[in-house]
Amino acid sequence: MYNSKIIGLGYFVPENVVTNDDLSKIMDTNDEWIQERTGIRERRHVIKGEETTTTMGVKAAKIAIERAGIDKDDIDFIIFATLSPDYYFPGPGVLVQRDLGIKTIGALDVRNQCSGFVYGLSVADQYIKSGMYKNVLVIGSEVHSTGLDFTTRGRGVSVIFGDGAGAAVMSREEDTKKGILSTHLHSEGQHAEELAVIAPGMGKRWVTDIIEENDPNDVSYLPVMNGQFVFKNAVVRFSEVIVEGLQANGLGKEDIDLLVPHQANLRISQFIQRKFELSDDQVFNNIMKYGNTTAASIPIALTEAWEQGRIKEGDLVVLAAFGSGFTWGSAIIRW
Ligand code: UT7
Repeated sequence: MYNSKIIGLGYFVPENVVTNDDLSKIMDTNDEWIQERTGIRERRHVIKGEETTTTMGVKAAKIAIERAGIDKDDIDFIIFATLSPDYYFPGPGVLVQRDLGIKTIGALDVRNQCSGFVYGLSVADQYIKSGMYKNVLVIGSEVHSTGLDFTTRGRGVSVIFGDGAGAAVMSREEDTKKGILSTHLHSEGQHAEELAVIAPGMGKRWVTDIIEENDPNDVSYLPVMNGQFVFKNAVVRFSEVIVEGLQANGLGKEDIDLLVPHQANLRISQFIQRKFELSDDQVFNNIMKYGNTTAASIPIALTEAWEQGRIKEGDLVVLAAFGSGFTWGSAIIRW
C-alpha cells in the first residue's frame, strides 16, 4: 500500500478581467451588492475563440507537469472535472490526452461540479494507493461565462461565476504518513434541482423540445440556483465534512495549517473560519479575484497558496468543497 501526494500544481486564467462595475453596465447590479454578499471584486471571462475548458485545462496541466519534474509520458491516467465541457460528448479528458500528445492512457471525466476536483483527487488517490498507477493528472477547468444570463434576469447567478483552470500531478508516496491521508465524499440528490442546468438533457427536457418550441424566453439551458438554500446547506456540509476528515485521522481543528475551501462565496469561507477558530493565515481565499470557478476553484487556490509560500513541507492542508448535486467532500493532506 502506498500513499499519493501532489508533486506539481498549475493554474491558468484568461486575461480578460471583468469587474463588478463592468457587469453593472449590462445589468441591474452594483459593486457594493456583489462585494457585500459574495466578496467578489472581479472575475475572468474567456474571449470567444481564444480559450475553452480544455485549452485552459491543458495550459494548467503543462505547468503542473513541469513543476512535478516528470515527462508528460510518465503520466498514467487523466482525470478531468468540469461542468462546462467543450462538447456534450466526448468529455475533455480525451482532448487533454490528444492536446498534450501523450500515450493512449485512460481518461476519466468527473461530473461533480464544485466538488469535482475533490472527487477527482479521491479517485486518483485510490488508483495510486492500490498501486495501479504511479502518476495521475487531475484537472479542474470551467468556462462559465459563455453559458450565463447577463441580463438582470440572471444576476443572482451570473455575477458569481468565473472562468479558469487548475491542475495537479499526483504521484506515489512510499511514506504513508505523508500525502493524501484521506478523502471523504458525499451526495444528496434530493436537492439536485436547487442548483442545476436542466437542458439539454435526455430526461425532462430533450434537445428536440428546445428546437421544436424555439422559444426565445426558454431559460432551461441556463443555470438556476436557489441561493439562500444552497448557502444554508453549504455552511453545514462544509463543517461536517471537515470534521469527518479530521476525526478519521485522529486530528482536531488546532492541527490545521491551511484550509483551502472551494471558493463559493467569501461569506461561506468566513463562516467556516469562525466556526473552526482559524486565523486569516490559516484560510486561503482568492474568490475576490476570480469569482466561483467551480471545479477549478480548489486547484487554482491551492496553486496560488503554494506559489505564495503558504504551504510548507509537513503542513496539514485541508481541502473542502460543496456544490450542485448536492455533492460535497474533503481531503486531508500532510504536505
Ligand atoms: O459553488 C456552488 C455553491 N453555490 C453557493 O454556495 C452559492 C450560495 N449562495 C449565495 O452565495 C447567495 O445566496 C447569493 C450570493 C447567490 C445571493 O445572496 P443572498 O443574500 O442570498 O441574496 P438573495 O438571493 O436573497 O437576493 C436578495 C436581493 C433580491 O432582491 P429583493 O427580492 O430582496 O428585492 C435579489 O433580487 O438581492 C437581489 N439580487 C441582486 N441585486 C443586485 C440578486 N442578485 C443581485 C445582483 N445585484 N447581482
